[in-house]
This record gives sequence, C-alpha cells and structure tokens, in this order.
Amino acid sequence: MMNELNGSHLSVMLTETLDALAIRPDGFYVDCTFGRGGHSSAVLQLLGNSGRLLAMDRDAAAVDSAEAKNLLEDSRFLLVHGNFTGLMRQIERLGMVGKVDGVMMDLGVSSPQLDEAGRGFSFLRDGPLDMRMDTSQGQTAAEWLAAAEESEIVRVLRAYGEERFAKRIARAILEARPIETTRQLATLIEKAVPSREKHKNPATRSFQAIRIAVNRELDELEEGLKKTVEILAPGGRLVVISFHSLEDRIVKHFIREQERGKPVPSRLPLLNAHRPVLKAVGKAKMPSEQEVRANPRSRSAVLRAAERVAA
Ligand SMILES: C[S@@+](CC[C@H](N)C(=O)[O-])C[C@H]1O[C@@H](n2cnc3c(N)ncnc32)[C@H](O)[C@@H]1O
Repeated sequence: MMNELNGSHLSVMLTETLDALAIRPDGFYVDCTFGRGGHSSAVLQLLGNSGRLLAMDRDAAAVDSAEAKNLLEDSRFLLVHGNFTGLMRQIERLGMVGKVDGVMMDLGVSSPQLDEAGRGFSFLRDGPLDMRMDTSQGQTAAEWLAAAEESEIVRVLRAYGEERFAKRIARAILEARPIETTRQLATLIEKAVPSREKHKNPATRSFQAIRIAVNRELDELEEGLKKTVEILAPGGRLVVISFHSLEDRIVKHFIREQERGKPVPSRLPLLNAHRPVLKAVGKAKMPSEQEVRANPRSRSAVLRAAERVAA
C-alpha cells in the first residue's frame, strides 16, 4: 500500500508499520498518536468485524478533526483525548490489560500542527509562541522562556537540540525577554548564531529543543514504552517511528533492555536471570528513497518493532 494523503498530512512508513504490526483481523490495536488518522484508517482497513482500534492523541484538534469524525462512524473505532502517560488508564477502562495485539507510536508533531501558524511550532510562520500539543494544559513556550533560568535554557538547547551555540542563544533570550512570537524568537536566534549549517535554518535546533521541553516529549516516550509492555498480549507487537536520534536512542535501548536485561558492569559475575519481555522484530527501518522524495518530512524517520514474549 502506498502512503495515503490525509488532508495535508502524509503518513510516514505506512506499509512498513502495517507489516511490523502483523495485523490479525480480530485483534485489538492501539494507535497512540492519531494525528490525522492515516495509520489508524489503514489499520481499520485490515481489521475484520470483530477487530477493534483505540486511538488517542494529546492534541484536541486531532481528536476533533474531520478525519476523526469520519472514522468515528466505524463502530470498531474508538478515539480519546489523552497522552502516553494516561495509556494504562484507558486500557484498564476497556478491560484490555495484557490483551492488546499491537501498539503503534508515530512520534513528534503532525503536519497540521507545523503548518498552522497559530500553534507556534514553526519558525517559518509567524504566530504566538505556544508549541503545546495539548493546549488545555501546561506552559506555553513563551511562558517557559519567560520563567526559565539561563542554565536551564542552555541545558535544553544542548540536550534536546544538540545546539553548539546554546549559551549565546540563551543569553540573547534573557536580554530580549519577554518573547511572544515565533518570528521574534527565530530572528533573535539568527542574530545570535555566528555560523550557518548548510540547508538548515539556524532556528531549527532551538525550536526542536524548546518543543521537546514544553511537551516533555522524552519523559512521555519513556513512560509510554513502559506501559506498552504491560498492556500487550503475548505475541503482541510494538511499533515506534521516531524522528530524531534522542527518541530513537530511547526506543532502541528500551527494546534491548526488555530483551536482554539491564547491562551488567563487566566486573560483576554475570547472572543471567533476565527473562526476555520483548524481542526485537527485524532491524531498524528507514523510509524508501521514493517516500523521502514524495514526503521530505519522512527523511529522518526510523521505525523499530518488537514483540511481547509469552510470560
Ligand atoms: C506524527 S503525528 C501522527 C500522524 C498519524 N500517524 C497520521 O498518520 O496521521 C504525531 C501525533 O502524535 C501526537 N502525540 C505526540 N506525542 C504524544 C503523546 N505523548 N501522547 C499522545 N499524543 C501524542 C501529536 O499531537 C500528533 O498529533
């Protein structure tokens, strides 16, 4: 199956996701990142009458979208507003703990989030500096920048953006505060950064870093991955698509640890007491050249899959 066009959103690595989920027509599946429902609708096409799909998204605009309304006409489909941290609660409510046949996570922001200036995610569009995926709670990026210590801004820019000029940018932010708009922040970064990376807007790294901090994306991912182990049935599949090395590292290490146990320091006698909880399914996959050409936003995607081992 080719990538499907959903409004302005092209779903990334759709065929690879479906293959990795190894969908059973009567199975119960969870799409943790509904977005505009590209992956969800493809899963529904493969489910039979007794199959079920629960989808969630922390962004109310995704849950209220036309695509969501359309899919909700299908009685096999359920959609909730919520984040990875609340995953267990949703699954408990449905009495499906330990019975889920597949969980997918297509991480990061959706194209509609990036494209809509009012959401404040993009340095290419002027808008209020918000960047929250869930606009019903938490600090906006503007509020976070207004309150954060210089050292905290430096830490975030370095850790989540791998920004070499974190100190200069943080200092410029402190001097310019309050910063209310994406344009204001992008211009300030452009001036603070002394050299340019080829084909990369100087604000790219900082915008990514601030977005990750505001949405606690890495904590959410770690928490969500832990929950999937508890909700999957034996033989159930976990499929995660990540978009930068920080996310991919978390996914890779998580799968490895569930497979082989925590690494033991070499000076300790090796106790092989770990019983595998997950086993990796194949190697990490990247999008095809054809997909990257059709959808440049897919270029940094990495898909990893694992299977729940019988207890
Ligand atoms: C890349 S998009 C998903 C696109 C979707 N697979 C499709 O085909 O339309 C990522 C979505 O996941 C949501 N999201 C990201 N982190 C989340 C989290 N921790 N909990 C719930 N939703 C999250 C975002 O709000 C966004 O809508």
